[in-house]
Amino acid sequence: MAATFTYLTSLLLLTLIIKGSCECSLNNINIGTTRSGREIQGKPEWNVTVINNCSCEQSHIKLSCKGFQSAEIIDPSILSVEGDSCLLIKGSPMKGFKAVNFSYAWDPPFLLLPTSSVIVGPCS
Ligand SMILES: *[C@@H]1O[C@H](CO)[C@@H](O)[C@H](O)[C@H]1NC(C)=O
Ligand SMILES: *[C@@H]1O[C@H](CO)[C@@H](O)[C@H](O)[C@H]1NC(C)=O
Ligand SMILES: *[C@@H]1O[C@H](CO)[C@@H](O)[C@H](O)[C@H]1NC(C)=O
Repeated sequence: MAATFTYLTSLLLLTLIIKGSCECSLNNINIGTTRSGREIQGKPEWNVTVINNCSCEQSHIKLSCKGFQSAEIIDPSILSVEGDSCLLIKGSPMKGFKAVNFSYAWDPPFLLLPTSSVIVGPCS
């Protein structure tokens, strides 16, 4: 009886560990936009933070970028516009809980949403 209980407890713990460590998805790519207070060519500047808010590494992170424009040049190694979508850090893997920042200038700001990514692990 005690042995069965121990076995079940271990199994439960193991399941929790496996689930807890790799339940990352596109939903864990969080994007925050704040006004920097500066103006570039008469357009307000926006600071964007894209965070991989989960323990697993994700790559090929794409954002919805329909109509995206900027009066401020954005380093294409951070964000490159490809038609209606934007590729983050050239599709390179972004480690768990790491963030990437960039700034752009336009009025009004764009609603940047994550549209796809590849979970590559490893999960920390
Ligand atoms: C990260 O995820 C946690 C839990 O879902 C949430 O409370 C937190 O606001 C997120 N952080 C960011 C920067 O979005
Ligand atoms: C916005 O980004 C610029 C350039 O990286 C930085 O100098 C500035 O402090 C940031 N402002 C805010 C409010 O985060
Ligand atoms: C990105 O911006 C956030 C919020 O301003 C800041 O906490 C973080 O340190 C920045 N990360 C990098 C890599 O510059």
